[in-house]
Amino acid sequence: MLTVRTAGESHGPTLIALVEGLPAGLALDCAAIDAMLARRQRGPGRSKRQQIEVDRVEVLSGVKGGRTLGSPLALAIRNRDASMETLPNPPAPRPGHADLAGAYKYTSRDLRAVLERASARETAARTAAGAVAALLLREFNIQVVGHVLAIGGDRAAAAEVTLESCTLRDSSPFASLDPQADARWAQAIERAAAAGETLGGLFEVVGLGVPPGLGSFAQFDQRLDGRLAASLMSIPAVKGCEVGLGFAAAERLGSEVHDAIEVLPGAPWGGLHRPTNRAGGLEGGVSNGQPIVVRAAMKPIPTLKKGLPSVDLRSGSAVPATYQRSDICSVPAASVVGEAVVAFELARAFLEKHGGDTLDDVHQSFLRWRKRAQEIVGDGLESP
Ligand SMILES: Cc1cc2nc3c(=O)[nH]c(=O)nc-3n(C[C@H](O)[C@H](O)[C@H](O)COP(=O)(O)O)c2cc1C
Repeated sequence: MLTVRTAGESHGPTLIALVEGLPAGLALDCAAIDAMLARRQRGPGRSKRQQIEVDRVEVLSGVKGGRTLGSPLALAIRNRDASMETLPNPPAPRPGHADLAGAYKYTSRDLRAVLERASARETAARTAAGAVAALLLREFNIQVVGHVLAIGGDRAAAAEVTLESCTLRDSSPFASLDPQADARWAQAIERAAAAGETLGGLFEVVGLGVPPGLGSFAQFDQRLDGRLAASLMSIPAVKGCEVGLGFAAAERLGSEVHDAIEVLPGAPWGGLHRPTNRAGGLEGGVSNGQPIVVRAAMKPIPTLKKGLPSVDLRSGSAVPATYQRSDICSVPAASVVGEAVVAFELARAFLEKHGGDTLDDVHQSFLRWRKRAQEIVGDGLESP
């Protein structure tokens, strides 16, 4: 099974991702991993930390001659600001952070010890792991595209996500598909900065070319929609998630929600076509051959210049929460993390169905399944 564990503190020496379960023989394109790490660092409204750090992946194990060995892959990203041992311990927990909950958990007033690991800096390691997953998916013409949909309640114009969308998205400072929204959002961030405020927003992740049959309805925790939602909700500051129509489905009639099935000779996956994709590519917890469409809502950054009302844990007196260097808006960065975690979960589901020790085994399994999938309509298929 494909798994990832991460280690490392925000201002510790190194962030680590340990990826296990990759097949042997996958070309590990470090430039592609670095490009995704660089995208995670971008975006207007980021703190000075992003100018200090230049995230680059170092491969510590699991690769020989540029290809995976099938053994655990250890990825490292060095922190330039590795000042954890000398940074002060904030006296007052910051509302909206793990500070107070973590103090209770460890019955300690060492908030620095809590916030160093709770920090979203950890998402750099998960982005590196997701970039590796994306390399595996690309072998099978599957591409995952994340983009920003809204900032501070102002939505971008609706846009269909295709393979070409990446060029437009990568030319946008906000990782969006709407240059006009970018201009408005830039002003919104300036206004928020001047007012000592922060902004949240929405991002969408689309999986293109995802074959049907990934995930399972056989057991609740194998349902791919639930797994994708859990991945997205594990991103710090993500407070909601939708699949396909999502919350809008609850307000529509049944005939306005479900996707008809039609025969269309030449259509992928056996000549069946869905004229709409309101389900977001998932039915019964299994991919159905349509693009996977998931969205996530990110709350505004909880560290405010003014410092929200808090309490000095030693004296018990009311004080503003400690301010430390912080983003004003991280939605573009979160969209890249979202892309990474979705890629990872899709790669995991892909290998569950088509896995093998070597990349060649995976290709063979996929080809065998695809041949049978083309016979889905007609009398060619027997029961398993
Ligand atoms: C990419 C990214 C960057 C973030 N940067 C900051 C930041 O600079 N300052 C901050 O206070 N919170 C930041 N956050 C959000 C906090 O990490 C998060 O709100 C906090 O850890 C509490 O977790 P929760 O909101 O999920 O409860 C960021 C989140 C992400 C995904």
